Amino acid sequence: MDLNGARILVVGATGVLGRRLCERLSERTTAIVVTGRSASGAEELRRGLGLRAAHALDLVDHDEAAAVVHRAAEELGGLDAVVIATGVAAFGPAADEDEAVVEELFEVNALGPMAVIRAAVPHLADGGAIAVLTGVVAELPLAGMAGYAASKAAMASWLGSLRRELRRRRIAVVDARLPHMDTGLVDRALTGLPPRLPPGHNVDDVIAAVERGLERGVHELRVD
Ligand SMILES: NC(=O)c1ccc[n+]([C@@H]2O[C@H](COP(=O)([O-])OP(=O)(O)OC[C@H]3O[C@@H](n4cnc5c(N)ncnc54)[C@H](OP(=O)(O)O)[C@@H]3O)[C@@H](O)[C@H]2O)c1
Repeated sequence: MDLNGARILVVGATGVLGRRLCERLSERTTAIVVTGRSASGAEELRRGLGLRAAHALDLVDHDEAAAVVHRAAEELGGLDAVVIATGVAAFGPAADEDEAVVEELFEVNALGPMAVIRAAVPHLADGGAIAVLTGVVAELPLAGMAGYAASKAAMASWLGSLRRELRRRRIAVVDARLPHMDTGLVDRALTGLPPRLPPGHNVDDVIAAVERGLERGVHELRVD
């Protein structure tokens, strides 16, 4: 898809990766609606980059998620792309995981994004794109992060079916299986301490790859 002038909804734009992606995308289009859990955080980002609109959205509320998507589509006159950059992590042995933590992992990393995408599909233009920042853990479940990896794998699998269903409309479904970066995500984990992780990849390089992946409609994006 052509990103120049494209109408894009970015969910989770106030996170480190979401924000960086918005900064890059805003060089190609300002027809962008952003969301963050805090209305003021999203509005500050919108104002700083001169974007179209900003909304508060907690993904745990699926009705609210659908309402925000419909509003964004109205504000933009339709959607060419939806990018989901929300996510939470949690660490600890699988057998010790707290039920409420696992539920939140699945809400934020899988069920909430699915609700956003379901609401967005009818608004998406043929030839458009959907991108979700999943993570390499979707295919490489490491010890000490079972719930996080499982929530990402669930999302990745769902995207695989969606991709096949949207083929006729030429809507690309980009599953961005990103490597570890030092964004502070692991320090904001719902619980536990991360295992020893490899040195983080460069955020700008990874975000540039996401932008290219969105543009080219790459199915499963990996950054070596
Ligand atoms: N960093 C990495 O190494 C890495 C690697 C692979 C994949 N990823 C994935 O990339 C995505 C972004 O990660 P990041 O590194 O940019 O982390 P981040 O800075 O912590 O961003 C996380 C985003 O998720 C949002 N969020 C958390 N809980 C939410 C909820 N209940 N409802 C709505 N939004 C919620 C946060 O909103 P607030 O701003 O309101 O807190 C923030 O926008 C995540 O899905 C992560 O799993 C990251």
